[in-house]
Amino acid sequence: MEIFKISGQVPLKGEVELHGAKNSALPILCACVLVKGECEIHNCPDLSDVRTTIRILESLGCKVKRQGDTVTVDSSEITGSQIDENVMRTMRSSILFLGSLVSRTGCASIYLPGGCDIGARPVDMHISALKSLGAAVKENGSSITCCADKITGTKIILPFASVGATENIMIAAAVSVGRTTIVNPAREPEICDLAEFLNKCGARIYGAGESIVEIEGVSSLHPCEHRIIPDRILASTYMSACAITGGDIVINDVRPTHLSPVFPVFGEMGCRLYLEHNKLKIQAPKRLRRVKMIKTMPYPAFPTDSQSLVTAALTVARGTSVVKENIFENRFRFVNQLNRFGADVQVEEQMAVINGVKSLHGADVYATDLRGGAALVIAGLAAEGNSIVRSIRHIDRGYAEFEKRLQQLGADIKRVKDEEIREEKGPAVQKETESL
Ligand code: UD1
Repeated sequence: MEIFKISGQVPLKGEVELHGAKNSALPILCACVLVKGECEIHNCPDLSDVRTTIRILESLGCKVKRQGDTVTVDSSEITGSQIDENVMRTMRSSILFLGSLVSRTGCASIYLPGGCDIGARPVDMHISALKSLGAAVKENGSSITCCADKITGTKIILPFASVGATENIMIAAAVSVGRTTIVNPAREPEICDLAEFLNKCGARIYGAGESIVEIEGVSSLHPCEHRIIPDRILASTYMSACAITGGDIVINDVRPTHLSPVFPVFGEMGCRLYLEHNKLKIQAPKRLRRVKMIKTMPYPAFPTDSQSLVTAALTVARGTSVVKENIFENRFRFVNQLNRFGADVQVEEQMAVINGVKSLHGADVYATDLRGGAALVIAGLAAEGNSIVRSIRHIDRGYAEFEKRLQQLGADIKRVKDEEIREEKGPAVQKETESL
């Protein structure tokens, strides 16, 4: 088991690159199943969730190769239509294979994702959308089987702008008969990236990123080359780390429009932001200012994935900030760990009240989920003395070589084997949770 060992209070300085977005890479790799041929996906981050997705593709008969940040997926032959139960338990986004497999092979069989520590996260919208598209869906306690001779276009009104359900519909309906209309789709940049990939393969998807998406079904897709968009959540991670340490950094390869929901929050904290083309310079003040109120909502509002990161930064702001989480009901689970650094964050239902303290002290904590885990690293970077962050496999799901990129910015953070520390401190509780 590996852990992060951090010696805090080093202001971050220098330049860092963003890697490709996890939340684009996963659906695009799933969508490769639809394409009879070899797709080349560039800027594909080497994350454990991506590696898991590649293992699923291989188990279905795809030939997958990675060279640097390029992954090629050859789906000329699909030999399986069932996804292993253990994989479904570790990576919820494998639900997207339901859409791609049923469309390509006529049948898909997956296990229901296990319970999740950030919220109940049901899959009802995915299932009812696939039924509307003509699939027969059988749920058997722990598994779902979805079969259809053909996918038939229809109008689907989503009660909530679910990212995953929108992606599953787009993937399933890309190769179909007739026209599918999604009313109230998710509008995240990753939805647009998926649509762009599918359209390069010959799909006819219109309106991605807007309030109605139209999909004209085509009979087949052809291979293409595609570059994954840079990870906007990684950008807000570096921004939070810079803000909390009083740093001054440049983040390369940002897409400013993707970050427009978070810029005002960093401005309110007193950070200076300078944009030049795709370079973002962020200069933090000596002490951050509080933010009156942050509410997480679907894009283009403040993203739930950036909530934990910014909450961590606000622990040392002057004054009291309030954060309201509207997407996932258990997304404040990491706060108990955050308070071990001496932070003063009170959570009541979906609201966190953050009373800024002057400084944090080192702590021994464990990551409860992906973004909550990154938030603890951010706290450790600002804390006086040494900190340990355990269960970092959650963090590795969404951050490629996180510690190396932070070291590049001057941070004193090391990945070490748990055993080396255990002798000093004794074992910590390990918590299994699911990633986002
Ligand atoms: C995706 C992202 C995740 C991000 C989230 C919201 C990936 C791999 N993950 O997750 O990082 O935090 O979007 O931006 O892209 N819901 C239902 N029924 C459903 C589906 C969703 O009730 O069938 C609910 C969820 O419980 C949640 C809300 O809708 O409360 C939003 O979920 P959704 O947008 O679907 O998130 P994911 O696609 O799971």
